[in-house]
Amino acid sequence: MELDGKSASDAAQGVRALAQPIAAALSRAAIFLVLDVKPGAENRAIVRSFCGDLSALIRAVEFRDIEAGLSCVMGFGSEAWDRLFGAPRPAELHPFKEIRSQGRHAVATPGDVLFHIRAKRMDLCFELATQIMTKLGDAVSAADEVHGFRYFDDRDLIGFVDGTENPRGQEAIDAVTIGAEDAGFEGGTYVIVQKYLHDMAGWEALSTEQQERIIGRKKLSDIELDAAVKPTCSHSSLTTIEENGVEVKILRDNMPFGRPTQGEFGTYFIGYSKSPSTIELMLQNMFIGRPPGNYDRLLDFSRAVTGNLFFVPAASFLEDVSDEQAAAVAAPSNAQANASSEAPSGTPGDSPSTSLSTDETGQAAAPSKDGSLDIGSLKGEIGHE
Ligand code: HEM
Repeated sequence: MELDGKSASDAAQGVRALAQPIAAALSRAAIFLVLDVKPGAENRAIVRSFCGDLSALIRAVEFRDIEAGLSCVMGFGSEAWDRLFGAPRPAELHPFKEIRSQGRHAVATPGDVLFHIRAKRMDLCFELATQIMTKLGDAVSAADEVHGFRYFDDRDLIGFVDGTENPRGQEAIDAVTIGAEDAGFEGGTYVIVQKYLHDMAGWEALSTEQQERIIGRKKLSDIELDAAVKPTCSHSSLTTIEENGVEVKILRDNMPFGRPTQGEFGTYFIGYSKSPSTIELMLQNMFIGRPPGNYDRLLDFSRAVTGNLFFVPAASFLEDVSDEQAAAVAAPSNAQANASSEAPSGTPGDSPSTSLSTDETGQAAAPSKDGSLDIGSLKGEIGHE
Protein backbone atom coordinates (compact mmCIF):
# COMPACT_ATOMS: atom_id res chain seq x y z
CA MET A 1 0.00 0.00 0.00
CA GLU A 2 1.33 3.35 -0.97
CA LEU A 3 0.53 5.03 2.30
CA ASP A 4 2.45 2.49 4.33
CA GLY A 5 5.43 2.78 2.06
CA LYS A 6 5.24 6.53 2.51
CA SER A 7 5.15 6.28 6.30
CA ALA A 8 8.03 3.86 6.27
CA SER A 9 10.18 6.07 4.08
CA ASP A 10 9.26 9.15 6.13
CA ALA A 11 10.32 7.27 9.24
CA ALA A 12 13.56 6.25 7.59
CA GLN A 13 14.24 9.88 6.81
CA GLY A 14 13.51 10.85 10.39
CA VAL A 15 10.24 12.65 9.54
CA ARG A 16 7.93 12.25 12.52
CA ALA A 17 4.38 11.28 11.55
CA LEU A 18 1.76 13.65 12.92
CA ALA A 19 0.10 11.90 15.87
CA GLN A 20 -3.58 12.10 16.72
CA PRO A 21 -4.26 14.27 19.84
CA ILE A 22 -3.70 11.46 22.33
CA ALA A 23 -2.16 13.63 25.02
CA ALA A 24 -4.97 16.23 24.88
CA ALA A 25 -5.60 17.96 28.21
CA LEU A 26 -7.98 16.20 30.61
CA SER A 27 -11.38 17.52 29.62
CA ARG A 28 -14.65 18.20 31.45
CA ALA A 29 -16.60 15.92 29.11
CA ALA A 30 -15.97 12.91 26.91
CA ILE A 31 -17.90 10.53 24.69
CA PHE A 32 -16.58 7.05 23.99
CA LEU A 33 -18.04 5.39 20.91
CA VAL A 34 -17.20 1.78 20.13
CA LEU A 35 -18.60 0.76 16.75
CA ASP A 36 -18.74 -2.38 14.67
CA VAL A 37 -18.21 -2.14 10.91
CA LYS A 38 -21.00 -4.07 9.25
CA PRO A 39 -20.05 -6.86 6.83
CA GLY A 40 -19.73 -5.97 3.18
CA ALA A 41 -17.23 -4.25 0.94
CA GLU A 42 -19.40 -1.15 0.60
CA ASN A 43 -19.46 -0.65 4.37
CA ARG A 44 -15.70 -1.01 4.61
CA ALA A 45 -15.35 1.52 1.80
CA ILE A 46 -17.52 4.03 3.68
CA VAL A 47 -15.40 3.67 6.82
CA ARG A 48 -12.14 3.99 4.89
CA SER A 49 -13.39 7.03 3.05
CA PHE A 50 -14.53 8.55 6.37
CA CYS A 51 -10.95 8.31 7.74
CA GLY A 52 -9.80 11.10 5.43
CA ASP A 53 -12.85 13.24 6.28
CA LEU A 54 -12.48 13.08 10.06
CA SER A 55 -10.06 15.98 10.51
CA ALA A 56 -12.32 18.38 8.53
CA LEU A 57 -15.30 17.26 10.61
CA ILE A 58 -13.40 17.93 13.83
CA ARG A 59 -12.28 21.37 12.60
CA ALA A 60 -15.85 22.35 11.71
CA VAL A 61 -17.26 21.44 15.13
CA GLU A 62 -14.17 22.69 17.02
CA PHE A 63 -14.45 26.14 15.42
CA ARG A 64 -17.88 26.71 16.97
CA ASP A 65 -16.03 27.28 20.27
CA ILE A 66 -12.30 27.10 19.70
CA GLU A 67 -11.63 27.63 23.44
CA ALA A 68 -13.43 24.41 24.33
CA GLY A 69 -10.51 22.24 23.20
CA LEU A 70 -12.47 19.66 21.20
CA SER A 71 -10.37 16.65 20.23
CA CYS A 72 -11.08 13.23 18.80
CA VAL A 73 -8.96 10.10 18.56
CA MET A 74 -9.91 7.24 16.22
CA GLY A 75 -8.64 3.68 16.74
CA PHE A 76 -9.12 0.29 15.08
CA GLY A 77 -9.46 -3.21 16.54
CA SER A 78 -7.30 -6.06 15.32
CA GLU A 79 -9.82 -7.80 13.08
CA ALA A 80 -11.14 -4.48 11.77
CA TRP A 81 -7.60 -3.48 10.81
CA ASP A 82 -7.28 -6.59 8.66
CA ARG A 83 -10.66 -6.02 7.06
CA LEU A 84 -10.09 -2.32 6.39
CA PHE A 85 -6.38 -2.02 5.66
CA GLY A 86 -4.81 -5.50 5.40
CA ALA A 87 -1.04 -5.72 5.61
CA PRO A 88 1.22 -4.34 6.81
CA ARG A 89 -0.31 -4.23 10.27
CA PRO A 90 0.89 -2.64 13.52
CA ALA A 91 3.38 -4.99 15.16
CA GLU A 92 1.54 -5.42 18.48
CA LEU A 93 -2.10 -5.21 17.38
CA HIS A 94 -4.14 -8.21 18.52
CA PRO A 95 -7.56 -8.86 20.03
CA PHE A 96 -8.03 -7.83 23.67
CA LYS A 97 -6.73 -10.61 25.93
CA GLU A 98 -9.45 -11.77 28.24
CA ILE A 99 -8.37 -12.67 31.79
CA ARG A 100 -10.23 -14.96 34.19
CA SER A 101 -9.05 -15.57 37.70
CA GLN A 102 -11.02 -16.77 40.73
CA GLY A 103 -14.28 -15.12 39.70
CA ARG A 104 -12.61 -11.96 38.44
CA HIS A 105 -13.06 -11.46 34.73
CA ALA A 106 -11.53 -8.95 32.35
CA VAL A 107 -13.99 -9.54 29.54
CA ALA A 108 -13.21 -9.14 25.84
CA THR A 109 -16.13 -7.59 23.98
CA PRO A 110 -16.83 -6.75 20.32
CA GLY A 111 -15.66 -3.47 18.82
CA ASP A 112 -14.05 -2.50 15.51
CA VAL A 113 -13.60 1.25 15.81
CA LEU A 114 -13.14 3.57 18.80
CA PHE A 115 -13.82 7.29 18.89
CA HIS A 116 -12.53 9.06 22.00
CA ILE A 117 -14.09 12.53 21.88
CA ARG A 118 -13.09 15.13 24.46
CA ALA A 119 -13.95 18.80 25.12
CA LYS A 120 -14.65 21.22 27.90
CA ARG A 121 -18.28 21.22 26.76
CA MET A 122 -20.46 18.13 26.37
CA ASP A 123 -22.49 19.81 23.61
CA LEU A 124 -19.40 19.88 21.37
CA CYS A 125 -18.68 16.21 22.09
CA PHE A 126 -22.30 15.40 21.36
CA GLU A 127 -22.29 17.39 18.12
CA LEU A 128 -19.13 15.66 16.87
CA ALA A 129 -20.49 12.22 17.80
CA THR A 130 -23.68 13.05 15.91
CA GLN A 131 -21.76 14.23 12.84
CA ILE A 132 -19.58 11.10 12.90
CA MET A 133 -22.62 8.85 13.06
CA THR A 134 -24.33 10.81 10.28
CA LYS A 135 -21.31 10.29 8.02
CA LEU A 136 -20.89 6.63 8.87
CA GLY A 137 -24.63 5.95 8.65
CA ASP A 138 -25.62 2.32 8.23
CA ALA A 139 -22.05 1.19 7.59
CA VAL A 140 -21.60 0.73 11.35
CA SER A 141 -23.55 -0.42 14.37
CA ALA A 142 -22.98 0.66 17.95
CA ALA A 143 -21.22 -1.77 20.27
CA ASP A 144 -21.09 0.73 23.15
CA GLU A 145 -21.60 4.42 23.84
CA VAL A 146 -20.60 6.13 27.09
CA HIS A 147 -20.98 9.78 27.98
CA GLY A 148 -18.43 10.63 30.67
CA PHE A 149 -18.21 13.68 32.88
CA ARG A 150 -15.54 15.12 35.13
CA TYR A 151 -16.62 14.76 38.76
CA PHE A 152 -15.67 16.92 41.77
CA ASP A 153 -11.88 17.60 42.04
CA ASP A 154 -11.22 15.17 39.17
CA ARG A 155 -12.47 12.30 41.34
CA ASP A 156 -14.01 9.10 40.10
CA LEU A 157 -17.35 8.01 41.53
CA ILE A 158 -15.64 5.99 44.26
CA GLY A 159 -14.41 9.33 45.58
CA PHE A 160 -10.67 9.26 44.76
CA VAL A 161 -8.80 11.74 42.58
CA ASP A 162 -8.03 9.89 39.35
CA GLY A 163 -5.18 10.80 37.00
CA THR A 164 -2.60 12.17 39.43
CA GLU A 165 0.30 9.95 38.41
CA ASN A 166 -0.23 10.48 34.71
CA PRO A 167 2.91 11.50 32.83
CA ARG A 168 2.76 15.10 31.58
CA GLY A 169 4.17 17.07 28.65
CA GLN A 170 6.98 15.40 26.75
CA GLU A 171 6.97 12.45 29.16
CA ALA A 172 3.35 11.74 28.16
CA ILE A 173 4.18 11.97 24.46
CA ASP A 174 7.15 9.65 24.90
CA ALA A 175 5.03 7.14 26.84
CA VAL A 176 2.45 6.81 24.10
CA THR A 177 4.12 7.50 20.77
CA ILE A 178 5.45 4.67 18.61
CA GLY A 179 8.79 5.51 17.05
CA ALA A 180 11.41 3.64 15.09
CA GLU A 181 10.55 0.32 16.81
CA ASP A 182 7.63 0.00 14.34
CA ALA A 183 8.71 2.48 11.69
CA GLY A 184 5.77 1.98 9.33
CA PHE A 185 3.44 3.02 12.15
CA GLU A 186 5.42 5.87 13.65
CA GLY A 187 3.25 8.40 15.48
CA GLY A 188 0.67 5.73 16.34
CA THR A 189 -0.24 4.32 19.73
CA TYR A 190 -2.30 1.58 21.37
CA VAL A 191 -5.31 2.12 23.58
CA ILE A 192 -7.16 -0.22 25.90
CA VAL A 193 -10.66 0.61 27.12
CA GLN A 194 -12.74 -1.09 29.78
CA LYS A 195 -16.07 -0.04 31.17
CA TYR A 196 -16.28 -0.76 34.91
CA LEU A 197 -19.44 -0.77 37.05
CA HIS A 198 -19.05 -0.15 40.77
CA ASP A 199 -20.84 -1.74 43.70
CA MET A 200 -21.30 1.60 45.43
CA ALA A 201 -23.13 0.19 48.45
CA GLY A 202 -20.31 -2.27 49.10
CA TRP A 203 -17.62 0.36 48.55
CA GLU A 204 -19.30 2.89 50.81
CA ALA A 205 -19.65 0.30 53.56
CA LEU A 206 -15.83 0.31 53.85
CA SER A 207 -14.09 2.78 56.13
CA THR A 208 -12.11 5.56 54.48
CA GLU A 209 -8.92 3.91 55.74
CA GLN A 210 -9.85 0.59 54.08
CA GLN A 211 -10.59 2.39 50.81
CA GLU A 212 -7.26 4.23 51.02
CA ARG A 213 -5.38 0.96 51.45
CA ILE A 214 -7.14 -0.43 48.37
CA ILE A 215 -6.20 2.56 46.22
CA GLY A 216 -2.84 3.30 47.87
CA ARG A 217 -3.50 7.02 48.33
CA LYS A 218 -5.19 9.29 50.89
CA LYS A 219 -8.77 10.02 49.89
CA LEU A 220 -8.99 13.71 50.78
CA SER A 221 -5.46 14.92 50.09
CA ASP A 222 -4.66 12.44 47.26
CA ILE A 223 -1.19 11.92 48.78
CA GLU A 224 0.36 8.48 48.21
CA LEU A 225 0.44 6.25 51.30
CA ASP A 226 3.86 5.75 52.89
CA ALA A 227 5.59 2.63 51.63
CA ALA A 228 5.49 1.24 55.20
CA VAL A 229 1.68 1.14 55.22
CA LYS A 230 0.83 0.84 51.52
CA PRO A 231 -0.18 -2.78 50.78
CA THR A 232 1.50 -4.56 47.87
CA CYS A 233 -2.02 -5.31 46.59
CA SER A 234 -3.00 -1.63 46.45
CA HIS A 235 -4.21 -0.44 43.06
CA SER A 236 -1.33 1.98 42.69
CA SER A 237 1.25 -0.71 43.62
CA LEU A 238 -0.11 -3.28 41.17
CA THR A 239 -0.30 -0.77 38.32
CA THR A 240 3.26 0.42 38.84
CA ILE A 241 5.41 -1.36 36.26
CA GLU A 242 9.17 -1.21 36.15
CA GLU A 243 11.52 -2.42 33.44
CA ASN A 244 15.20 -2.53 34.30
CA GLY A 245 14.55 -0.29 37.30
CA VAL A 246 12.74 2.36 35.24
CA GLU A 247 9.00 2.96 35.67
CA VAL A 248 7.01 2.43 32.46
CA LYS A 249 4.16 4.94 32.38
CA ILE A 250 0.87 4.89 30.51
CA LEU A 251 -1.48 7.80 29.84
CA ARG A 252 -4.99 7.48 31.30
CA ASP A 253 -8.06 9.63 30.89
CA ASN A 254 -10.67 7.75 32.94
CA MET A 255 -14.13 9.23 33.10
CA PRO A 256 -17.01 8.72 35.52
CA PHE A 257 -20.39 7.90 34.01
CA GLY A 258 -23.67 6.59 35.28
CA ARG A 259 -27.43 6.51 35.48
CA PRO A 260 -28.61 6.98 39.07
CA THR A 261 -32.13 5.76 38.27
CA GLN A 262 -30.62 2.45 37.10
CA GLY A 263 -28.20 2.17 39.99
CA GLU A 264 -25.39 2.45 37.43
CA PHE A 265 -22.18 4.06 38.70
CA GLY A 266 -19.08 3.50 36.64
CA THR A 267 -15.57 4.38 35.59
CA TYR A 268 -14.63 4.24 31.93
CA PHE A 269 -10.98 3.22 31.93
CA ILE A 270 -8.96 4.37 28.94
CA GLY A 271 -5.20 3.85 28.82
CA TYR A 272 -2.82 4.80 26.01
CA SER A 273 0.61 3.26 25.63
CA LYS A 274 3.16 2.74 22.89
CA SER A 275 3.02 -0.97 23.71
CA PRO A 276 -0.17 -2.75 24.80
CA SER A 277 1.97 -5.15 26.83
CA THR A 278 2.41 -2.54 29.58
CA ILE A 279 -1.34 -2.21 30.17
CA GLU A 280 -1.78 -5.96 29.77
CA LEU A 281 0.75 -6.53 32.53
CA MET A 282 -1.12 -4.06 34.76
CA LEU A 283 -4.32 -6.00 34.08
CA GLN A 284 -2.65 -9.30 34.94
CA ASN A 285 -1.41 -7.77 38.19
CA MET A 286 -4.88 -6.44 38.99
CA PHE A 287 -6.94 -9.51 38.05
CA ILE A 288 -4.57 -12.40 38.81
CA GLY A 289 -2.31 -10.69 41.31
CA ARG A 290 1.38 -10.00 41.82
CA PRO A 291 2.26 -12.61 42.97
CA PRO A 292 -0.83 -14.57 41.85
CA GLY A 293 -3.56 -14.22 44.49
CA ASN A 294 -2.33 -10.80 45.63
CA TYR A 295 -4.95 -9.13 43.42
CA ASP A 296 -6.46 -5.64 43.29
CA ARG A 297 -9.29 -5.39 45.88
CA LEU A 298 -10.81 -2.59 43.79
CA LEU A 299 -12.10 -5.48 41.69
CA ASP A 300 -14.16 -6.75 44.63
CA PHE A 301 -16.23 -3.58 44.09
CA SER A 302 -15.75 -2.99 40.35
CA ARG A 303 -16.76 -5.26 37.48
CA ALA A 304 -15.42 -4.91 33.94
CA VAL A 305 -18.29 -5.18 31.45
CA THR A 306 -16.35 -4.33 28.28
CA GLY A 307 -12.75 -4.75 27.11
CA ASN A 308 -11.10 -3.74 23.84
CA LEU A 309 -7.69 -3.05 22.40
CA PHE A 310 -7.35 -0.62 19.49
CA PHE A 311 -4.49 0.72 17.43
CA VAL A 312 -4.54 4.49 16.92
CA PRO A 313 -2.67 5.31 13.72
CA ALA A 314 -0.98 8.65 13.11
CA ALA A 315 -3.26 11.44 11.88
CA SER A 316 -1.30 11.40 8.63
CA PHE A 317 -2.23 7.71 8.13
CA LEU A 318 -5.93 8.61 8.37
CA GLU A 319 -5.48 11.48 5.93
CA ASP A 320 -3.74 9.18 3.46
CA VAL A 321 -6.50 6.57 3.34
CA SER A 322 -7.55 7.83 -0.05
CA ASP A 323 -10.87 7.65 -1.78
CA GLU A 324 -9.31 5.65 -4.61
CA GLN A 325 -8.25 2.99 -2.17
CA ALA A 326 -11.73 3.01 -0.69
CA ALA A 327 -13.24 2.70 -4.15
CA ALA A 328 -10.86 -0.11 -5.03
CA VAL A 329 -11.92 -2.02 -1.94
CA ALA A 330 -15.58 -1.29 -2.58
CA ALA A 331 -15.57 -2.81 -6.05
CA PRO A 332 -12.83 -5.41 -6.46
CA SER A 333 -15.24 -7.27 -8.72
CA ASN A 334 -18.97 -7.65 -8.75
CA ALA A 335 -18.75 -11.25 -7.66
CA GLN A 336 -16.53 -10.46 -4.70
CA ALA A 337 -18.57 -7.45 -3.67
CA ASN A 338 -21.76 -9.46 -3.74
CA ALA A 339 -20.22 -12.31 -1.83
CA SER A 340 -18.92 -10.07 0.90
CA SER A 341 -22.04 -7.95 1.25
CA GLU A 342 -24.12 -11.07 1.75
CA ALA A 343 -21.77 -12.80 4.13
CA PRO A 344 -22.44 -12.49 7.85
CA SER A 345 -19.71 -11.07 10.08
CA GLY A 346 -16.90 -13.44 10.85
CA THR A 347 -17.41 -15.64 7.81
CA PRO A 348 -14.73 -16.06 5.17
CA GLY A 349 -16.74 -13.72 2.92
CA ASP A 350 -16.04 -10.95 5.39
CA SER A 351 -12.39 -11.69 5.92
CA PRO A 352 -9.61 -9.37 4.78
CA SER A 353 -9.03 -11.58 1.80
CA THR A 354 -12.34 -10.36 0.34
CA SER A 355 -11.25 -6.75 0.18
CA LEU A 356 -7.58 -7.32 -0.43
CA SER A 357 -6.56 -10.72 -1.73
CA THR A 358 -4.44 -12.93 0.42
CA ASP A 359 -1.54 -12.44 -1.97
CA GLU A 360 -2.00 -8.70 -1.86
CA THR A 361 -2.19 -8.40 1.91
CA GLY A 362 0.32 -11.10 2.69
CA GLN A 363 -1.88 -12.05 5.65
CA ALA A 364 -0.79 -15.50 6.69
CA ALA A 365 -3.90 -16.15 8.77
CA ALA A 366 -6.70 -14.35 10.51
CA PRO A 367 -5.77 -13.38 14.08
CA SER A 368 -6.67 -15.91 16.72
CA LYS A 369 -10.18 -15.58 18.08
CA ASP A 370 -9.02 -17.10 21.34
CA GLY A 371 -7.79 -14.15 23.32
CA SER A 372 -7.68 -16.06 26.60
CA LEU A 373 -4.53 -15.88 28.64
CA ASP A 374 -2.85 -19.08 29.61
CA ILE A 375 -2.68 -18.53 33.33
CA GLY A 376 0.01 -21.17 33.65
CA SER A 377 2.40 -18.95 31.69
CA LEU A 378 1.62 -15.80 33.59
CA LYS A 379 3.97 -16.42 36.47
CA GLY A 380 6.82 -16.18 34.05
CA GLU A 381 5.43 -13.02 32.46
CA ILE A 382 4.94 -11.30 35.78
CA GLY A 383 8.58 -11.88 36.42
CA HIS A 384 9.37 -9.52 33.53
CA GLU A 385 8.77 -6.48 35.66
C1 HEM B 1 -12.37 0.60 38.24
C2 HEM B 1 -11.53 1.18 37.44
C3 HEM B 1 -10.43 2.06 37.93
C4 HEM B 1 -10.47 3.05 38.84
C5 HEM B 1 -11.67 3.57 39.60
C6 HEM B 1 -9.13 3.56 38.97
C7 HEM B 1 -8.76 4.56 39.84
C8 HEM B 1 -7.46 4.97 40.07
C9 HEM B 1 -7.05 5.93 41.04
C10 HEM B 1 -7.99 6.65 42.00
C11 HEM B 1 -5.71 6.06 40.98
C12 HEM B 1 -4.80 6.94 41.84
C13 HEM B 1 -4.57 8.31 41.31
C14 HEM B 1 -3.80 8.36 40.01
O1 HEM B 1 -2.58 8.25 39.99
O2 HEM B 1 -4.45 8.44 38.99
C15 HEM B 1 -5.26 5.20 39.91
C16 HEM B 1 -3.96 5.06 39.52
C17 HEM B 1 -3.56 4.30 38.48
N1 HEM B 1 -4.34 3.43 37.75
FE1 HEM B 1 -6.30 3.11 37.97
N2 HEM B 1 -8.32 2.88 38.14
C18 HEM B 1 -9.06 1.93 37.49
C19 HEM B 1 -8.62 1.01 36.56
C20 HEM B 1 -7.34 0.95 36.12
C21 HEM B 1 -6.87 0.01 35.13
C22 HEM B 1 -7.74 -1.04 34.44
C23 HEM B 1 -5.54 0.29 34.93
C24 HEM B 1 -4.55 -0.38 34.01
C25 HEM B 1 -4.72 -1.54 33.46
C26 HEM B 1 -5.18 1.37 35.80
C27 HEM B 1 -3.93 1.95 35.87
C28 HEM B 1 -3.55 2.89 36.79
C29 HEM B 1 -2.20 3.43 36.88
C30 HEM B 1 -1.03 3.11 35.97
C31 HEM B 1 -2.20 4.31 37.96
C32 HEM B 1 -1.01 5.12 38.49
C33 HEM B 1 -0.24 4.27 39.48
C34 HEM B 1 0.91 5.05 40.09
O3 HEM B 1 1.83 5.38 39.36
O4 HEM B 1 0.85 5.32 41.31
N3 HEM B 1 -6.29 1.73 36.51
N4 HEM B 1 -6.34 4.54 39.38
